[in-house]
Amino acid sequence: MRREAIDVRVALLGYGTVGAAVHRLLEEQGDEIERATGHRLRVVRALVRDTARERGFSPDAGVLTTDFAAVRDDPAIGLVAEVMGGLEPAGEYVLELLRGGTPVVTANKQLLARRGPELFEAAAAGAVQLRFEASVCAAIPVIKVLRESLVASNVHRVLGIVNGTTNFILSAMEAGSTYGEALAEAQRLGYAEADPAEDVGGLDAAAKTAILATVAFGSRVPVEWVDVEGIEGVTREHVAAARAMEMHVKLVARATLVDERVDVRVGPALVDSHHPLAAIEGAFNAVMLQGDAIREITLEGPGAGGLETASAVVADMVSIVGTTGTGFLQNDPVWRDLEQLPAGELTSPWYLRLEVEDRAGVLARLAHELAAEGVSVARLVQQPGDGHAVLHVVTHEAPQGGLERALAAIRSLPESRGGVSALPVVSDRGIEDLGWA
Ligand code: NAP
Ligand code: HSE
Repeated sequence: MRREAIDVRVALLGYGTVGAAVHRLLEEQGDEIERATGHRLRVVRALVRDTARERGFSPDAGVLTTDFAAVRDDPAIGLVAEVMGGLEPAGEYVLELLRGGTPVVTANKQLLARRGPELFEAAAAGAVQLRFEASVCAAIPVIKVLRESLVASNVHRVLGIVNGTTNFILSAMEAGSTYGEALAEAQRLGYAEADPAEDVGGLDAAAKTAILATVAFGSRVPVEWVDVEGIEGVTREHVAAARAMEMHVKLVARATLVDERVDVRVGPALVDSHHPLAAIEGAFNAVMLQGDAIREITLEGPGAGGLETASAVVADMVSIVGTTGTGFLQNDPVWRDLEQLPAGELTSPWYLRLEVEDRAGVLARLAHELAAEGVSVARLVQQPGDGHAVLHVVTHEAPQGGLERALAAIRSLPESRGGVSALPVVSDRGIEDLGWA
C-alpha cells in the first residue's frame, strides 16, 4: 500500500534560466520524484530582483518575492536552492540559511570555489547539508561520482572540458562561425554566465576545476592556484592549423597530483583527434577521472543550459530529502592539506606557432634556443606567410618553465616577427604513436 506523500516546501534564490527550469522539473516530474522518494517537493517562494519580469515558466501568484527575509524567516521551508549566481548577496544568504539549519543546494561555482571553507563551516554549525552538483558540468553527476562512487579510488588526475559556452564557441568556429556570432548564440541559448567574460576568460572553468580538484584530492584547492587562460587569444588561424594537424582547439581543464603536490590549470590546448575530448562538441562537457583502482572513467554530457542544470539541482534536493541532517557524507570533502606544484614544473608536449623571417639560418637559431632549454622538436611544418614564414612546431614532452624561457629568447631574436604562441597538446598517444617522432 502506498503511503501519503510527505510535502517538502522548497524555496529558490533566483528564478532565471536555471531557477525557472528547477521549478518546471519539480512540477513535471513531481509524480516520478514522489514514487521514488515518497516526497512531493513544492516551490513556495522564489527570490528575484523584479517580480514583474516576463518568465518562461510562471510560478503561482505570491511565489515570487524580492524580500530574502520571506525565505529565511519561514520555518516551513525545508530546503533552499541557490540559483541566482554572484558572490554577494548570494554568499550571505546561503550562510544565513545554513547557520539557521536550512539545507542548501547551489549551482554557484564562484561562490563555492571562493568561499567553500566558510560555507562548509556554516553547514556544520547548522547540522545540515550543502550540496553543489550543479556547480560543475551542469547535468553530469561528477561530484556524486567522485564523492560517493570513487571514494576508495585515489583519483590523481582530472582532465576535461568543463565550460559549455567556450566549447560551443570553439566548435562553431571550426564550422565557420565568427567568435562574436558564436558567443551571441551561446548567450541566447542560456549557456553563458550573466557576465560572459567569466566563460571566455576561463574564470568559470577555473572555479569548476578548483572544485573538482578539491573533491578529487580531498584537499582544499583555492581558485587562485589555477593557472588560467581563456579563449580570447584563440584565432581562426589556430583552429585551422589544429585541423590541418588532425587536432582540435579546446579549452582544457586539468588537475594533476605530481608527487603529492597539486597542479591545476585551464587553457586552450590542441587535442589529438583520437583523444576522447576531441569528440566533445557544442555545449557538451566531459571529465576524465584517473585513479589507482579505476584506471580511467570518462563522464560526458550537457555542460550548460537551464533544464540540464536543473536536473542536477533536483537530484541534490532529492538526496537531501532522502538523507536528512548532515547525510551519510562528511559535508566538507576536504581531509588533507596538499601543496601546490611550483610554477613551470609540469611537463607536456607543446604546439608552437612562430612567425619568423624566411631566410637561411633562422631554423637553426630557433632550434638552438629550444635545445638550450631541453625542448626537443617532434614535428615541424612551415607555411609561407606574407613576406615571412609561419612555423607550426610540435615538441616532445618538456617542462613549461623551460619552454617559456626558450620562447622569450625566440621572441627577442632579430629574425622573430612577433607572432609567437604556445598551446599544450593533449594526446593519450605518445609523439611516436602520432607518427611525428
Ligand atoms: P540568470 O538567468 O541570470 O538568473 C539569475 C536569477 O537570480 C534571476 O531570476 C535574478 O532575478 C535573480 N537574482 C540575481 N541577483 C539577484 C539579487 N541580488 N537579488 C534577488 N534576485 C537576484 O542566471 P542562471 O543562468 O539561471 O544561473 C544561475 C546560477 O546557476 C549561476 O550561479 C550560474 O553560474 C549557475 N549555472 C548556470 C548554468 C546555465 O547553463 N545557465 C549552468 C550551471 C550553473 P531577475 O529574474 O528578477 O533578474
Ligand atoms: N556558463 C557555464 C558554461 C554554465 O557555459 O559552462 C554551466 O556552468
